[in-house]
Amino acid sequence: MEFSLITSPSESNQTDCLILGIFENQKHSPESSGFNLQTQGFIDTIIQRDNFDGTLGNTLTINFIPNNLYQRCVLVGLGNPDQPLSSKNYRKLLTSTIKALKNTPSTNATCCLSEITVENQNNLWKVRQIVEVFQGACYQFSDLKSKPGCTVKLIHIGITATEDNRLDSETGLKQGIALANAIEFTKNLADSPGNVCTPSYLAEKALQLSQQNNRLSTRILEEDEMAELGMGALLSVSRGSRQPAKLITLEYRGGNLESKPIVLVGKGLTFDAGGISLKPSSGMDEMKYDMCGGASVLGVFQALSDLNLPINVIGLIPTSENMPDGDANKPGDIVTSMSGQTIEILNTDAEGRLILCDTLTYAQKYNPEVVIDLATLTGACITALGRHPSGLLGNDDALCEDLFAAANTACDPVWRLPLWEEYQEQLKSNFADMANIGGPAGGTITAACFLSRFAEDFRWAHLDIAGTAWKSGDQKGATGRPVPLLTQYLIDFSNNASN
Ligand code: BES
Ligand code: MN
Ligand code: ZN
Repeated sequence: MEFSLITSPSESNQTDCLILGIFENQKHSPESSGFNLQTQGFIDTIIQRDNFDGTLGNTLTINFIPNNLYQRCVLVGLGNPDQPLSSKNYRKLLTSTIKALKNTPSTNATCCLSEITVENQNNLWKVRQIVEVFQGACYQFSDLKSKPGCTVKLIHIGITATEDNRLDSETGLKQGIALANAIEFTKNLADSPGNVCTPSYLAEKALQLSQQNNRLSTRILEEDEMAELGMGALLSVSRGSRQPAKLITLEYRGGNLESKPIVLVGKGLTFDAGGISLKPSSGMDEMKYDMCGGASVLGVFQALSDLNLPINVIGLIPTSENMPDGDANKPGDIVTSMSGQTIEILNTDAEGRLILCDTLTYAQKYNPEVVIDLATLTGACITALGRHPSGLLGNDDALCEDLFAAANTACDPVWRLPLWEEYQEQLKSNFADMANIGGPAGGTITAACFLSRFAEDFRWAHLDIAGTAWKSGDQKGATGRPVPLLTQYLIDFSNNASN
């Protein structure tokens, strides 16, 4: 899908479909009022006839416009004109708009919704949301279907802008396109099945990515190199799989040589069967999504490379399968991590923290500004927070606050959980420095406590994306989260760095 800005009526007139907002009680937005006058009250006639009242997110498609100005028009309800429109509700009405638009034969459209006032948001944000929501709604993973399904006919969306907001709108368009493509890239990887998307496949994708931009380079650490580094925790997981583990390292150098990098660590379990602590079979297919942290790191690098941000960023993706096998970890096994700390593996299904802990130790060598890891780490996170926010934990309040703020801007919410010392006791082992599980109470927190022991030397935050990286049920599919949040965090960081 292509997007551009439209600044004159003549450009707009070349499109098939006009998208206009109408408030409750049939009150016009500026553009719909203008178009209503231009058509001698045609819009008023239709909304009165069809009793379209402008309830938030309701839509009405008009398939005939006098004088052939357009082939059709999609009207979308903006809700109460006397109440500020929230960011969430703006996204909601964009979602219903694109749904209605997809149901028309239009191949291109002019969207006038960037003119609608949204509480605390400027045109940069609004244009970006239009691109993100529209392109997101047209995503389908159909590469592996032998017959093409219903394909989306939409090719081009023009978004209206004025001279006053032109610069803002251009930045919004650029960020929106970068973000929408990054999210799509992540979703494609995440939706790919485990027999296609293996650790080697992920590594291959990372290598391809670095060919786009000479600020970006990729190096893959193989198992023998990891063994030399002493990554006993990571390698104990991949030992139970026929697929060799990889540690993907991406370096994006857009900033000064001296400026410390932000390190992003993404869990890349391309399939998590649980190992010897085998998972129940129902719903196990969804464990192909256990690499969503890694896929999101790759997505963020795709966005970075499009936006050319003036910062340094490192991506580290430990990637492996977790399978039952004669050589797999057994409950009670004790392994030595790269940090030297020993771990008693009481449950082989708590494998994410095993591959992450060695990667966190490895991150130290980059002298990071901050380290942020993202992982589909615990089912307990879904119990605690449901599927709306990602869990956020960390050892640095300022970093957590920055992530919280970026999450709100990006409409990719997080909610913080405590990382109190009291919880650390649950990881006590009689035979090793720590156990890899902390019992049934506070599973998301004890998982983060485990990771915190490998993140003592830098500012660190952990995102548990178990509930947010994909959707289950008949809408099953990847969401691309938390690519929006992390990209926003990097945009904010580079704005602050250059000020
Ligand atoms: N990848 C899973 C976590 C998960 C489960 C994410 C369900 C999304 C949906 C992780 O490796 C895992 O299995 N965690 C265990 C930890 C437990 C053994 C302490 C879990 O959550 O059950
Ligand atoms: Mn597991
Ligand atoms: Zn897992």
